[in-house]
Amino acid sequence: MGAEKKWLYALFCAAFVSFLIFLSCISGFSSSYYAFSLQRRFATPVNHGPGHPPAFAYYISGGGGDSDRIFRLLLAVYHPRNRYLLHIGTDGSEEERWKLGMLVKSVPVIQAFGNVDVVGKPDPVTYMGSTNIAAMLRAVSILLKVDGGWDWFVNLSASDYPLITQDDLSHVLLSVSRDMNFIDHTSDLGWKEGQRVKPIVVDPGLYLARKTQIFYATEKRPMPEAFKIFTGSPWVVLSRPFLEFCVFGWDNLPRTLLMYFTNAVLSQEVYFHSVVCNSPEFKNTTVNSDMRYMVWDNPPKMEPLFLNTSDYDLMAQSGAAFARQFNKDEAVLDMIDQNILKRSQNRVTPGAWCIGGKNWWMDPCSRWGDVNMLKPGPQVKILGDSVQRLLQDLSSESNQCR
Ligand SMILES: *[C@@H]1O[C@H](CO)[C@@H](O)[C@H](O)[C@H]1NC(C)=O
Ligand SMILES: *[C@@H]1O[C@H](CO)[C@@H](O)[C@H](O)[C@H]1NC(C)=O
Ligand SMILES: *[C@@H]1O[C@H](CO)[C@@H](O)[C@H](O)[C@H]1NC(C)=O
Repeated sequence: MGAEKKWLYALFCAAFVSFLIFLSCISGFSSSYYAFSLQRRFATPVNHGPGHPPAFAYYISGGGGDSDRIFRLLLAVYHPRNRYLLHIGTDGSEEERWKLGMLVKSVPVIQAFGNVDVVGKPDPVTYMGSTNIAAMLRAVSILLKVDGGWDWFVNLSASDYPLITQDDLSHVLLSVSRDMNFIDHTSDLGWKEGQRVKPIVVDPGLYLARKTQIFYATEKRPMPEAFKIFTGSPWVVLSRPFLEFCVFGWDNLPRTLLMYFTNAVLSQEVYFHSVVCNSPEFKNTTVNSDMRYMVWDNPPKMEPLFLNTSDYDLMAQSGAAFARQFNKDEAVLDMIDQNILKRSQNRVTPGAWCIGGKNWWMDPCSRWGDVNMLKPGPQVKILGDSVQRLLQDLSSESNQCR
């Protein structure tokens, strides 16, 4: 070979090798990745506020080992118009938090809308201790700061699951005033007065690095006179105006009660209930329901019973928006996915915004159209009726802070 030919030959080899590398790169990209890069340019704007469907801020919290459940729950309640904050408490590892972040990033629509965050610096959550409220208030502050569009805050744990699609939830709450707070409450403390409010407890999670339990002081304190205590379910759906009042408000009531309940047992069952009911501006915004389906043992234990397939019918007809609690990969979750959410494994719950192919192998939500449109499903009537019933007797005694 002449020098020139050798040179040409080398050039050809180099070109061929780089072509091969190029090919392997292309096939390494999944088709959904490709769809994502195209979609980003054509993503429709998200509209919030009056005249548009309500949006939700979800705080999903779990402990070590919960990352798969949190991810499944996220996919089940996902909608591009909402905002999500995921939290694995201090008992989980850095690696697990990272893994959850990678799972979240792997979903093209979540990448495109950038509306899911994982808390990087976790909070301690002591069983029955006030660190629960500290973690939740922090989540509220983050969500208020990063997203000005949401209307309601929803508190979920890794063992919860939705009973309706986000299109349904948004559709039903479209006709509800956005300052309403769905919070189960009563001032009838009963045995809780002696066992929850009067004992003085300390949550060492506030100042110790290791996992601990609350401890009791020997002294008890009298019932407060400056405010009235309300108690109820720790599972809440709270309005943006009320949470702004709690976090940014000029009135000192939310702070005073926070300091008082720092030393109460299970402060998450009294804090928001007492703040909402003791403030003149918010006491007429309560709906006495937590919108959850739970089954209690008789006599009730600390947590509701684990739900399974034999609970499905009652649960689906209950008119609740969420249910708890479930074991990991419990078969009834597959029934909910299949019958109610129409969700396939590792995919988000479809809504009107999904305009991908109708073929079974293609994820309908790998392409998106107008995300501000809703397509109510079959469950919408059941939830609608139950919310209607709740709102009908807004003026009744049970809804007012009594
Ligand atoms: C919110 O969720 C957390 C985590 O699941 C839970 O511990 C707490 O009781 C819930 N409610 C409140 C008011 O913090
Ligand atoms: C609550 O009462 C205030 C003052 O009376 C009123 O301005 C507000 O509209 C009421 N809110 C609701 C949700 O009824
Ligand atoms: C479901 O749970 C109930 C109550 O915990 C239990 O009695 C029943 O045997 C369970 N059913 C199945 C199918 O696991």
